[in-house]
Amino acid sequence: MRLKGKSALITGSARGIGRAFAEAYTREGATVAIADINLAAAEKTAAEIGANAYPVRLDVSDLASIEAAVKAVETKTGGLDILINNAALFDLAPIVEITKASYDKLFSVNVAGTLFMLQAAARTMIAMGKGGRIINIASQAGRRGEGLVAVYCATKAAVISLTQSAGLDLIKHRINVNGIAPGVVDSDMWDEVDALFAKYENRPKGEKRRLVGEGVPYGRMGKPEDLTGMAVFLASDDAEYIVAQTYNVDGGQWMS
Ligand SMILES: NC(=O)c1ccc[n+]([C@@H]2O[C@H](COP(=O)([O-])OP(=O)(O)OC[C@H]3O[C@@H](n4cnc5c(N)ncnc54)[C@H](O)[C@@H]3O)[C@@H](O)[C@H]2O)c1
Repeated sequence: MRLKGKSALITGSARGIGRAFAEAYTREGATVAIADINLAAAEKTAAEIGANAYPVRLDVSDLASIEAAVKAVETKTGGLDILINNAALFDLAPIVEITKASYDKLFSVNVAGTLFMLQAAARTMIAMGKGGRIINIASQAGRRGEGLVAVYCATKAAVISLTQSAGLDLIKHRINVNGIAPGVVDSDMWDEVDALFAKYENRPKGEKRRLVGEGVPYGRMGKPEDLTGMAVFLASDDAEYIVAQTYNVDGGQWMS
């Protein structure tokens, strides 16, 4: 067990990739806060995972909610050792159709949510004096732009940049900040992504999902479980000397 006795908070972990992280962390001995804007789903997921998972209501775009969630974790477990910034929203539209409302929503969750969640976790970790681990979930979308996906791509490029800056600033407190850039992962988010591509690229539903899978060098879309090895490794003692990096876990999609 590589995370025995650790207290972890995973944002957006009621479903999808975040849930897979939570399952892997509890298997490795951590106690995990299933922190999600959808409390009912977080409660269900925590109950299904078992005794070492508990639900916490969290809206990462709301500072008061972030403070309350971190407090809840401290109360429950006596501290916070690991944060995974996983919650994010997706949208797409041609440049000439992007709305300010969509821009504000994605930046407030994907970017401000990552930064202020990370800040709150770091404050607690610094006060405890034991260091910590922060893992930000970026995307291959943060490595280059895509014609229809300008805003989401920009938010994920910002996550990679924040990982570098926070990683450099917080390592003096022995808080390692690193990131994971998944490629295309078959989660519930892809129902929404596929429907948007169907609309804007005039495709039948399901076609984009199939095509992106075929385009992955490995030969298929990722599964949430494909990402858990890296998430456990980055939180483990083996990753002590890794600082401010973002790792591609994407079946060979992007090389950097
Ligand atoms: N699925 C992919 O293909 C893919 C690819 C690359 C990167 N990613 C990234 O991986 C992460 C997880 O993706 P997923 O596919 O599991 O997404 P998902 O949409 O299936 O799950 C996201 C979770 O975040 C929660 N959430 C949404 N807004 C929130 C908020 N304001 N505060 C707290 N929780 C909130 C949702 O309720 C949901 O449980 C995201 O950062 C995403 O950008 C996904």
